[in-house]
Amino acid sequence: MKVLNIFFSATGNTKKVAQRIEQELLTIGHEVDTIQVAKDTETEILDYDFVFIGSGVYTWMPGKPLMEFIGKQREKYGSGEIKPAAPRRAGKKAVIYCTFGGGHTGMNEAVPAIKYMGQLFDHLGYEILGEWFIVGEFHGKLAYLSTSGRLGNIQGRPNERDLQEVAEKVIGILRV
Ligand SMILES: Cc1cc2nc3c(=O)[nH]c(=O)nc-3n(C[C@H](O)[C@H](O)[C@H](O)COP(=O)(O)O)c2cc1C
Repeated sequence: MKVLNIFFSATGNTKKVAQRIEQELLTIGHEVDTIQVAKDTETEILDYDFVFIGSGVYTWMPGKPLMEFIGKQREKYGSGEIKPAAPRRAGKKAVIYCTFGGGHTGMNEAVPAIKYMGQLFDHLGYEILGEWFIVGEFHGKLAYLSTSGRLGNIQGRPNERDLQEVAEKVIGILRV
């Protein structure tokens, strides 16, 4: 199966998750293209049977480069591939995930980011098999939120246990 593993990561947390996803996919014998989204990223989503897409959450949404990437895909596929009622596309599946700090309202503030990313794939007719919320510590100026937010102390996350859980879910989801 040809898998696209695409992500945006400003401070490295989502990158750790994307790398674990890649490692797990390779271990079980899938072909995977891992792409860290940048301004000029080009890819043919529809060439892939399975897509993992993830981002850190910034002000409730995916990172700007990923939002721009999604906007460009929507324009590119337009009414040719995005059809009324978004009919399912046989054999196409996606997992949407984010890393988030939840410093103010917990997981709720990551929900818009997940839903935003998912809409591109839902519009294209992909079956969304999972929405994964993975805790990621705040870096930089907002680091104080890693110990004072609604999720308690999230320093060091995603940690090995979080990443192991991701690996288990990759195995589980591919059984579907
Ligand atoms: C500038 C900034 C804004 C953030 N905004 C949010 C937010 O609105 N909601 C949230 O849950 N986490 C927020 N976070 C925490 C990040 O989503 C979290 O640390 C994530 O794991 C970062 O992913 P990355 O390291 O892959 O960039 C913010 C972090 C930064 C640095």
